[in-house]
Amino acid sequence: MIIAQIMAGGIGKRMGNVPLPKQFLMLGSKPIIIHTVEKFILHKSFEFILISVPEDWISYMEDILNKYNIEDERIRVICGGKERNDTLDNALKYIENEGNFTGEDCLITHDAVRPFVTRRIIEENIKALKNFDAVDTVIPATDTIVEGSNGYISNIPIRDLMYQGQTPQSFKITSLRESLEKLKISERQKLSDSAKIMLLDGKKVKMVAGDISNIKITTPYDLTIANAILENFH
Ligand code: CTP
Repeated sequence: MIIAQIMAGGIGKRMGNVPLPKQFLMLGSKPIIIHTVEKFILHKSFEFILISVPEDWISYMEDILNKYNIEDERIRVICGGKERNDTLDNALKYIENEGNFTGEDCLITHDAVRPFVTRRIIEENIKALKNFDAVDTVIPATDTIVEGSNGYISNIPIRDLMYQGQTPQSFKITSLRESLEKLKISERQKLSDSAKIMLLDGKKVKMVAGDISNIKITTPYDLTIANAILENFH
């Protein structure tokens, strides 16, 4: 069984003073999250498509699915969590309560605010899970990445070895649950990246090539760029 999770449990603080969590802002003629959901419903291999939103926004999400004529019986709108990892955890609990899942079942998690994910990227994530417990989508870093703190550089890693993480991030569900349970609460709160949960547990994370257009809409500037991508390439 392959399950998709569209992660929309955040509120988008870095988007500034906007009336809605950023995943519900308009991109062209529809909300950002509707573009993302449309990419996932094209894949028939998903048994369920979970959409994780803040508790107070569940009925709003259901309303916009209706408004934009998204009718797909695989969709379940569920409650997100305080931190991104809590949103992941809530989805795992939902899946486990549904029953009938086995050690080979897979979860493809994706940021709701990356509406330009491609068919190829989703397919390559699914394919890579045949041989690995964890998969991350990345693109090669184009800028030099500099590590530092308190105003000083501590390290300049070799650029050819640096990548930028995107989503989807995909997992064998049982293996992910096992690694998540080993994390201390403090680690869990700090970790903003789900693939790192597996890395910390010594598991291999396979890299899949992302795409430069698979941007994450974080700030108002990103939304302007996303509108330009939509107009010019989609
Ligand atoms: N996310 C989530 N649950 C959370 C926090 C984030 O599902 N508790 C989701 C967001 O909704 C988003 C994705 O993870 O689709 C990427 O996170 P980010 O861009 O950091 O979103 P926000 O947390 O909403 O943004 P900010 O940090 O600016 O508040």
